[in-house]
Amino acid sequence: MTDPIPSREIRILPDAATLNRAAADEFIRCAREAIAARGRFAVALSGGSTPKAVYGLLAADQADSTRRLPLENIHFFFGDERAVPPSDPESNYRMAGESLLSNIPVPPENVHRVKAELDAKTAAGLYQEELRRFFHPGAGEWPRFDLIMLGMGPDGHTASLFPDSLALSERSLLVMANWVEKFNTYRITFTYPVLNAAAEVMFLVSGAGKAEMLKDVLEGPEIYPCQRVKPVNGNLLWMVDQPAGRLLTR
Ligand code: 6PG
Repeated sequence: MTDPIPSREIRILPDAATLNRAAADEFIRCAREAIAARGRFAVALSGGSTPKAVYGLLAADQADSTRRLPLENIHFFFGDERAVPPSDPESNYRMAGESLLSNIPVPPENVHRVKAELDAKTAAGLYQEELRRFFHPGAGEWPRFDLIMLGMGPDGHTASLFPDSLALSERSLLVMANWVEKFNTYRITFTYPVLNAAAEVMFLVSGAGKAEMLKDVLEGPEIYPCQRVKPVNGNLLWMVDQPAGRLLTR
């Protein structure tokens, strides 16, 4: 059997509002497909600021009978986390909680938080075990998320896979405590094998400030961490708004 050819799709939406709606609709589509096929939807949320508005839409969608999802069948994970307690303003868990998870009746056991208040290496090890317990990957297999949401940093990082950091070359661990020199701190992050095992990876990129980097990432040589996200047997979808995509030529 020939290897499936990884697909890459780029969707350019007119503005942030239409990007956010389109991303929320893609989340719903992925969720419905996964639940219909496998009875559950395992999604890894991204951090930072861009996804907040999408999470807010998804929370509001639960009040809309045409968009509502069966939350008991959805498991929320985090593709990366800062090495801070959940109450910290820097916490991705706090951001997702405030914009989505605290505003929907998702069963608490369906929210898989990184225990980032602990030592980063301990937190990464515990999270890796949680992935193993949930997905039960066989020998040589990787946990396969139905959807992993990602952002693109101004330096071309994604999740907490930063340029020149050790996690870029990690091929055995699922989750790693990654020292990020520029921030003088650890971050806890999925590694590329987990990202690239996903059924779908959706990047969200918004705003004119990302245009230069986005053009380099999508049209230039492979030198940035986010360019190494290539689902082996899954879809790679870049959802960008016009300001971020204004320099793209194809
Ligand atoms: C994080 C994210 C990170 C983020 C990018 C883009 O923990 O910060 O996982 O990878 O997605 O830095 O962030 P913005 O969406 O805020 O630009």
